[in-house]
Amino acid sequence: MSSALLDIHLTDDDADTALRADVRAGLTAYPKQLPPKWFYDALGSELFERITELPEYYPTRTERALLERSVDEIAVASGADTLVELGSGSSVKTRLLLDAFTRAGTLRRYVPQDVSESALRLAMDALAGEYPDLTLHGVVGDFTKHLDRLPRGDHRMVAFLGGTIGNLLPDERAAFLTQLRSVLQPGEQLLLGTGLVIDEKVLVPAYDDAAGVTAEFNRNVLRVLNRELGADFDVDAFAHRALWDRRNEWIEMRLRAERAMTVRVADLDLTVEFAAGEEMRTEISAKFRPGGVRAMLATTGFSRTRSWTDPDGRFALTLAAAV
Ligand code: SAH
Ligand code: AVI
Repeated sequence: MSSALLDIHLTDDDADTALRADVRAGLTAYPKQLPPKWFYDALGSELFERITELPEYYPTRTERALLERSVDEIAVASGADTLVELGSGSSVKTRLLLDAFTRAGTLRRYVPQDVSESALRLAMDALAGEYPDLTLHGVVGDFTKHLDRLPRGDHRMVAFLGGTIGNLLPDERAAFLTQLRSVLQPGEQLLLGTGLVIDEKVLVPAYDDAAGVTAEFNRNVLRVLNRELGADFDVDAFAHRALWDRRNEWIEMRLRAERAMTVRVADLDLTVEFAAGEEMRTEISAKFRPGGVRAMLATTGFSRTRSWTDPDGRFALTLAAAV
């Protein structure tokens, strides 16, 4: 029988405090910005799953194909007893890893960690039926803050898939990897998925799909603020924007105020003015070059063991070990 545990490292109160701080800082900054982790309430997590199925959104299916090619090699080389996954979401692609580890016969426990409790609970409920011999130990937490509270194991592999590392700003990324390295034992592994720099003509539509699902995902952050902080954003008065920042090599998602607006955030006692056409950054999605991935890992205490790239060079999967 499978057994399941759920640790809450981010209570509703913690999340509320963090949301308030992020929103006050972001809406009073110039230019205005909001961190992407607040997209993921139950609706946001569902919209992300719909994004992964869009014809334009190549990252998920490309990474899945890379996993299909590499999982058995990864599982055999790893010998991990515990698979930790950060920002695990629906854990759909993870099943490829879980199946490979089952074939290799070493894995005892899967530890999905996500800021979205609803996504985590849904994923764990489904996995419990499918993997009866696996211990499931879910963790509701923020991977930029709570890595030191992850359960220990004899030998862990940490998967950070989907290119989610690209949603962190460069200094946040370095701090994240350094922190992750500090909680791992030498030899424990990291499996990292990264989107690569490719043609803008492929990149931009992946973040600005014809069906408008990404636009709804983007605007959802305003719904979260309306519900959680008593804000009165007119959600439909903000337009979705996705642009490729060539210098920083990242996609930037923004919300553009279609008219001048005064927005009240009641719970923060904050009034915010938006000029007509003003744009607020809601997400970056950095794309990498293979050398950049190597350098980022080397400078934070990881040695690269192997990497896999699709034939079009769109995505990389890198296996690294804590030095
Ligand atoms: N790994 C999955 C999901 C990617 S979507 C995949 O590859 O398809 C990004 C996931 O990271 C979401 O489930 C979101 O809730 C989670 N997330 C975003 N910011 C986070 C943070 N700071 N800490 C923990 N989880 C976070
Ligand atoms: C979760 N993350 C890797 C996605 C990405 O591609 O940066 C989030 C996303 N934003 C818009 N579409 C998908």
